[in-house]
Amino acid sequence: MKLLVINGPNLNLLGIREPGIYGDRSFGALCDFIQKSVDEVGAECELFQSNHEGAIVDAIQGALGRFDGIVINPAAYTHTSVAILDALSAVHIPTVEVHISNVMEREEFRHHSFVSSVAKKTYMGLGFEGYRRAVRYLVLGEE
Ligand code: DQA
Repeated sequence: MKLLVINGPNLNLLGIREPGIYGDRSFGALCDFIQKSVDEVGAECELFQSNHEGAIVDAIQGALGRFDGIVINPAAYTHTSVAILDALSAVHIPTVEVHISNVMEREEFRHHSFVSSVAKKTYMGLGFEGYRRAVRYLVLGEE
C-alpha cells in the first residue's frame, strides 16, 4: 500500500510558526514521525509539501494510478480551495484530512473545510498523532 502525504502552506515552518498552537517540533520532525508511522504498518509513502495551491492540485492529479491513499493537511487552503476539493473528487483516491490544531475551537473562518466533504475521515487537534491515526485508518482500517 502506497500513500501520498500532502502538507499545505506554512507547515514547512512548524517549530517556528505559532508554537503555542502548532507545538515546537519542526517540519523535519513531522516528516520523520510520518515516515515512522508508515513503516510501523508496513506501507510506503511519498511526502509532499507546497505553499502553492496549483502545485497541490498537480500532486493530487499525479497520484492517480500511483497511490492507494492520500493523507492531506491542506492548511489554510482547507477553508478556501474548491480546486483541491475538485482534484480529490476527480482522482477518487481514499483520503483522510488532518489538522494539527483543533480548527473547530479556533476562529470561525476555520470552521468550514471544503476537503471534509470528500475525506473519509478527519483528525484534528491531535498534533502529529493525527497523521499516525490517518495512516492507520487508511492501511489497517483502524478508527
Ligand atoms: C491547520 C489549520 C488551518 O486552519 C491553518 O490555516 C493551518 C494549519 C492545522 O494543521 O491545524 O495552516 O491545517
